[in-house]
Amino acid sequence: MCGIIGYAGHRPAVPLAVEGLRRLEYRGYDSAGVAFVQNGELHTIRAEGKLAALEEKLATCPNTTATAAMGHTRWATHGIPAERNAHPHLSNDGTLAIIHNGIIENYQELKNDLLTLGYTVAPDAETEVLVNLTAEGRKQHASLLDAFAWALRQAHGAYAVCVMAKDEPGVLYAARLAAPLILGIGTGENFVASDIPAFLPYTRDVVFLEDGEIVRADANRWQVLRLADLSVADKRIQHIQWDMQAAQKGGFKHFMLKEIFEQPRVIADCMAGRVDEARNTVALPELDALPVPDRLHIVACGTSYHSGLWARHILESWAKVPVTVEIASEFRYRDALLGKNDMVMVISQSGETADTLAALRMARDKGVQVIGLCNVVGSSIARESSAVVYTQAGPEISVASTKAMCSQMVVLALIALSWAQRNDTLSQATRAQMLHILRALPAQLETALPMMHDTAQQLARTYAKARSFFYLGRGHCYPLALEGALKLKEISYIHAEGYASGEMKHGPIALVDPEFPTFALALDDELFPKVKSNIVEVQARRGKIIALTNPGLELSVDHSWVIPTVQGPLSAFLVLPALQLFSYEVAEYLGKDVDQPRNLAKSVTVE
Ligand code: AGP
Repeated sequence: MCGIIGYAGHRPAVPLAVEGLRRLEYRGYDSAGVAFVQNGELHTIRAEGKLAALEEKLATCPNTTATAAMGHTRWATHGIPAERNAHPHLSNDGTLAIIHNGIIENYQELKNDLLTLGYTVAPDAETEVLVNLTAEGRKQHASLLDAFAWALRQAHGAYAVCVMAKDEPGVLYAARLAAPLILGIGTGENFVASDIPAFLPYTRDVVFLEDGEIVRADANRWQVLRLADLSVADKRIQHIQWDMQAAQKGGFKHFMLKEIFEQPRVIADCMAGRVDEARNTVALPELDALPVPDRLHIVACGTSYHSGLWARHILESWAKVPVTVEIASEFRYRDALLGKNDMVMVISQSGETADTLAALRMARDKGVQVIGLCNVVGSSIARESSAVVYTQAGPEISVASTKAMCSQMVVLALIALSWAQRNDTLSQATRAQMLHILRALPAQLETALPMMHDTAQQLARTYAKARSFFYLGRGHCYPLALEGALKLKEISYIHAEGYASGEMKHGPIALVDPEFPTFALALDDELFPKVKSNIVEVQARRGKIIALTNPGLELSVDHSWVIPTVQGPLSAFLVLPALQLFSYEVAEYLGKDVDQPRNLAKSVTVE
């Protein structure tokens, strides 16, 4: 969850690296730095805090003329956010600089070896171990490539790493293991980066590196080798369609708001090419080679986990596939009993979440097929799954996940309909009705969003000072209650608990008082009467209620927020944006850093 960029080409490299880091800030932003060779010296300039601090520091330095450079923006895992822990790190002899995203799990052991050789390494900085190990390797190997490979083979854990040498100023050496790293292929220039937006203004041609690959690149050449034996790896250049606008804010104040308003298009994009409107059938060729499982185990983290919880309702009711849903960090450490015809589905926007990736690997080790549901093309989870279905939501920059969940739910609905089709467990009429509802959602949401936004703004001003919130939901609204609470917590820092409405009376209702409002999901479905009685129970304890509800339902609450009716579980596509907008407006009203909340990173690539 750090961001790295390396550049070798013909342009002023340091400003380009800093510009690239700007587009990677969502990966972590507690410190940043650059490295470059100038006048025969290897320089690093680093600063604690956001990228602006580094830019201020660079403004006081002499002009840089280097046409090769590396940049790094950090999210701390070892070592507190401080300049001394910022990357790049130099080797003791000052001849090598390194930037690194990931964790070297055996760095202590490697550090001890270096200390006996007379190296000095800061107590909690593991990246310095790698750069000094590489320097040590140069004493024993003919080339820097050999030395770098030698050092990397000793490192266990996860790394996307790039090295520059004082005596090879225009050359980048980079490698990956369990952390994303992409090669950008330009004309007279080449890039390595954690993510595509870092260099998208310069090239759309990319090569995705696999685990255990190492790359050497300069302005005009690039080569990918296997770390194990430095044999040449045969790589394919892929052309990326994303435009840069997709990674810019497009007129919205924050990426999060932009991405909330992108959801109508995201729903349409997710369905594109996957629904035969004439025959009302679903086509997911990515899954055709796999059977419909006897049982599906959905494993994910955070918002993606909530998508899985929601999907259980439709996978069981439409496709008659028994489903369990589990948090990845729990699943991976349990000796899960997986039947031979079971399947695991991992859901991950970034495709790099460490716990989810580990769960995938555990399932594969147990001989179980794994379906990946990812948004980032070529991500680790995407490439290690037996089959991957991309959510096609475009880059999600805001740390708070919004359109990613929407896109995941669309694809999950299509999978449920596709499996129902294959197993003939849903009438054609019902399938046609569900597809009709899905196809109508983009226009319905396009119309509803502005009104939802206005209501969210009004309610936010009333409730922004609350110290805690309950979010209540039943059935397919329970996962949405969990998601609404997560959104409020992670961007406004107000405590919130998502709860099954029927569970409140088993203790939590003791918390209710006039300062502890409740957000109740009370939709026009068969559970409405039950939710209504739960609302009354809360009101009997003087709790204030915001009810997200549909037209024509009788409710006597403090705030009745009426949204358009969508029948059944697909009503989630109207509920979700309302919850997202409410949390956004509360956070915005409180002046929080909406797109980059404190302590969070967009992709949690460590345990
Ligand atoms: C959601 O708003 C959070 N940022 C977080 O819970 C996120 O959903 C979780 O870390 C999983 O990320 P992934 O989908 O990239 O695996």
